[in-house]
This record gives sequence, C-alpha cells and structure tokens, in this order.
Amino acid sequence: MPNAKDNLIAWLRDAHAMESQAVEMLERQVDRIKNYPEMLAKAQEHIDVSNRQAERLSQCLQSLGSSTSSIKTGVGMLIGNAQSLSGVFADDEIVKAGIFNYAFEHFEIANYRALIAAANRAGETEIARTLQQSLDEEIEMASWLEQRLPQVTETFLTRQEAGTTAEAKR
Ligand SMILES: [Fe+2]
Repeated sequence: MPNAKDNLIAWLRDAHAMESQAVEMLERQVDRIKNYPEMLAKAQEHIDVSNRQAERLSQCLQSLGSSTSSIKTGVGMLIGNAQSLSGVFADDEIVKAGIFNYAFEHFEIANYRALIAAANRAGETEIARTLQQSLDEEIEMASWLEQRLPQVTETFLTRQEAGTTAEAKR
C-alpha cells in the first residue's frame, strides 16, 4: 500500500507538471497581450516565479530520492484542454486570459495546500516550508489578478467601443 511519502512524491511530480504548464501557458500569452503593459509585465514576472517554483519542486523530489525525469503529464494535459476552452484566440482574449489565469492560480493554490498537508503528514517539514513559499507566491498572483480583472475588462470594453484592437497586431 502506498504510504504518505509515496503520495507526496506523486503529487510533487504532478505539481512540477503543473508549473511547466504554467510557464508554457504564460509564454504563449505574452506575445498576445502587448497592449496591456501591466498585465504583460506581471505575466513575465510570473514566468520567472513559476520557473523557480518548478525548480523548488525538483529539489523537493531530489531530497526524497526521486527525480522529475518521468513526471506525469495527466494534470498538464487536463489544463491544456481547459486552456483551449479559455478563448485565448478570441478577440476578447485579454479578458479570457485574465479569467483563466485567475482560475489557474486557484488551481495551483489548491495543489500547494494539499501538498503542504501531505508533506507535514510524511514528516517532511522542510519540504512543507519550501512549498509554503510557492503557495504565498500563488496567493499574491491570485490577489493581483483579482484586483486587476475588472479594470482590464473595462479597458478592453472602452477600446472595443473606440475601435482599437484588444491586442498587439497578429
Ligand atoms: Fe505557480
């Protein structure tokens, strides 16, 4: 029967896939949101944050004698599908991206909360502390998006009324 540590390792791998997906998703977005410099800067910043978080997860796995060489892709694939539904190629993609990113951050928050509980249960308090750092970063990003989303939506609508395209030229 799998023990707490086995679960912890499996979930750390899932989270690593999740962070890789976050980077990929944000990188796809940055080219398309250039008319929203504040969102663009935050997305770029969060790419760096997500890369560091992935690195942290690798270190946690290494400290448990595991590696990220055979990470699961299930979670990543699920999110990939969700993103194709998120309207990133629509004219209103800045709004859709904002909504999607806000939801994604909460997906990450939920994952880190579960991971921290699993790490504590397995007696891996150092790993729990490391993951808490990532959790705090996701909460910061989620609350940033929460504050900006209404304003971004208004800016989009204003520009649409004025006939300005919502994004950089394709
Ligand atoms: Fe993240």
